[in-house]
Amino acid sequence: MSRGIFITLEGPDGAGKTTQIGFIREYFQSLGKEVIITREPGGTAISEKLREILLDKNNSEMDDVTEMLIYAAARAQLVAEVIKPALAAGKIVISDRFVDSSIAYQGYGRDLGDQVRIVNLSATAGLEPDLTLFLDIDPKKGRERIGKDVMDRLEQEKMDFHYKVYQGYKDIWENCPTRVIRIDADRPLEEVKESVLSTLDTFFGGIAGPGKN
Ligand code: TMP
Repeated sequence: MSRGIFITLEGPDGAGKTTQIGFIREYFQSLGKEVIITREPGGTAISEKLREILLDKNNSEMDDVTEMLIYAAARAQLVAEVIKPALAAGKIVISDRFVDSSIAYQGYGRDLGDQVRIVNLSATAGLEPDLTLFLDIDPKKGRERIGKDVMDRLEQEKMDFHYKVYQGYKDIWENCPTRVIRIDADRPLEEVKESVLSTLDTFFGGIAGPGKN
């Protein structure tokens, strides 16, 4: 069976990834494709337990390397249990965050550098997205969209941290121009949606084969 398609959404907290994922799902479903949606950290029973540890505000003593490794462990389980089998079955997999989040948040935000990429080669067994949508919004504006009382351990970090993460995303975008497409997310929802869908058309417009309704 042919390999499916793997799409990831990335960007600062509050960029609107979850909303756009709903539109991407509809796009592929209208082409008669089977879509699997997942999120990181999370997406399996084990990975969701690791998510709780990672985002728990009470875990303020967590060491940066520990944090990087737990994100990678949650990812390894998700790749093995969900993403690889779905792609092997020819499905469309859409993930709310993937390795780029670790590069940006742990590599840049926590200053852990290139070890993040290396650890994640093992976590993903080298799997890379076919397309990554970088929803670009200034971290300050993204933050304004999230309620202060619902911020998790990472979201509540100081603005310095979030600007380092943001720089990480911009570098990833610059370094991987064929895989990573930047979408200006500081616009009304419908306009962002239009850009997202036209990017999908550019990348996958020809896929509506025999599965199309
Ligand atoms: P979410 O709020 O988008 O579900 O993501 C949870 C938080 O975890 C978010 O602040 C980004 C952060 N994160 C990392 O620091 N490293 C990672 O590898 C991933 C996947 C998320």
